[in-house]
Amino acid sequence: MISLEVNGRVHAVDADPATPLLYVLRDQLALDGAKFGCGLGQCGACTVMVDGQATFSCVTPISVLPGRRIKTVEGLGTAAEPGPLQRAFIAEQAAQCGYCIAGMIMRAQALLEKNPAPTDAEIRRHMLPNLCRCGTHMRILRAVRRAADEMRAAESGSRRTG
Ligand code: FES
Ligand code: FES
Repeated sequence: MISLEVNGRVHAVDADPATPLLYVLRDQLALDGAKFGCGLGQCGACTVMVDGQATFSCVTPISVLPGRRIKTVEGLGTAAEPGPLQRAFIAEQAAQCGYCIAGMIMRAQALLEKNPAPTDAEIRRHMLPNLCRCGTHMRILRAVRRAADEMRAAESGSRRTG
């Protein structure tokens, strides 16, 4: 058994230690936001966060993950209550087929947790490893910009009222 903390919940997982995290998320924990694209660390469809870092879950064996915090797109919000990045991706209509989107959102989340006020160039550079076959990159970049701006506005509003 390997113990994995995913979205704040600890799961005892019965799987070979070499199993990629992506397979455990999708097949054992019913968290199917992260997608299998290339399986080689080259497309980003499987991106989740591990200890705050955007991570390709298709090439990350679960043996290296005990004691580390894993976050998936399901940890950011729900269909009824989407989180800021999820709302921004909807508002900008950033998805075409949607296959890349969970990975895009998790890579963006990792950026905004570290750098709440990224420049457009920083957003572009950070998002580079994740590919979108539908070519909605410009809308994706706009969605990340929108989420960053809204998160900062909400933060400064809560500081004023708090
Ligand atoms: S499926 Fe993991 S990087 Fe492509
Ligand atoms: S929306 Fe289709 S791959 Fe990105």
